[in-house]
Amino acid sequence: MSLPKLFGFHLILMLSSFWGTAGGFYLYQAFDCIYSTKDYSDMVYLESHSFNKDVFLQFNSTLGKYVGFTEFGVKQAENWNNDQAIIQQQKAEVDRLCKHNAQIDDSSVTYKTVKPKVMLSSVKPASGRHPAMLLCSAYNFYPETIKVYWMRDGKVETSDVTSTMELADGDWYYQIHSELQYTPKSGEKISCVVEHASLNKPMVYEWDPSMSESDRNKIAIGASGLVLGIIIAAAGLIYYKKKSSGRILVPN
Ligand SMILES: *[C@@H]1O[C@H](CO)[C@@H](O)[C@H](O)[C@H]1NC(C)=O
Repeated sequence: MSLPKLFGFHLILMLSSFWGTAGGFYLYQAFDCIYSTKDYSDMVYLESHSFNKDVFLQFNSTLGKYVGFTEFGVKQAENWNNDQAIIQQQKAEVDRLCKHNAQIDDSSVTYKTVKPKVMLSSVKPASGRHPAMLLCSAYNFYPETIKVYWMRDGKVETSDVTSTMELADGDWYYQIHSELQYTPKSGEKISCVVEHASLNKPMVYEWDPSMSESDRNKIAIGASGLVLGIIIAAAGLIYYKKKSSGRILVPN
C-alpha cells in the first residue's frame, strides 16, 4: 500500500478591500508546509503574499529569506531581510507551525486507517449465465485504497465478477461492492477476500452455502412460533384439567 508522498496544508488569510461595484482587490497570504518524508527532513515552509493572483513577496525556509517579485515586493523583502527578529521568527516556523501541525495531521489523517465492515450475502442475479450470485460489500473504511476479490477452492476467481469503484460516503469513509455470479457446485469453498491498509493480513470471509442469513431468520421465526404454540397449548391443557377435575360429570 503506497502512502501519500506529498502532504501540504494551507492556512489562508484573506484581507480584501472592496470599493465601488467594479470588483475589488484581493490581497492574501498563504502559509504552506511542503514535505514528503515521515521524519520531516525535507520540510519547507513558504509564506506567500499575493495581490490579486500574483505573488509579490515570498519567504522560503530553504533560502532562509524573503524574495520579492515586484518593485514593491523587492523593497519589502529588503526591509524584512534586514530585520533579524523577523527572519529568526520566520525560520522557526518550520518547527513551530509545520512540523507541529504535520504531526497532528499525520496521526489524525495521513496515516490513519479505519477497518472496513464486510458483509457477504446471497442475492438474486438480475440476469446472466449463472443461477446464483454473491455480494461482498465493505463499508466505512479509510483510506480509499482497497482490494476486494473472490477465491473459489483456493484460486482467485476473476470471471463473472463485477466490482464498483470505491464510493465516497462524503464523511471521509468509503464503501465498495463486488458481485460474483456462479453456478453452485457441492463441496466447493467460495470466499471474499479484503486487503486494506487497516488490516495486517488479508481478511477472508467464507461463504456458508448451507444456510443464508434470511433462511436462518425464517427458521428462527418458525422455531419461536412453535415454542409459543406449545406453551399456549400446555397452558390450555392445564387449565382444562383443573376445571374438569372439580366437576362431577356423572351424577350419583
Ligand atoms: C524554495 O527554495 C528552494 C531553494 O532555492 C527551491 O529549490 C524550491 O523550489 C523553493 N520552493 C518553492 C515552492 O518555490
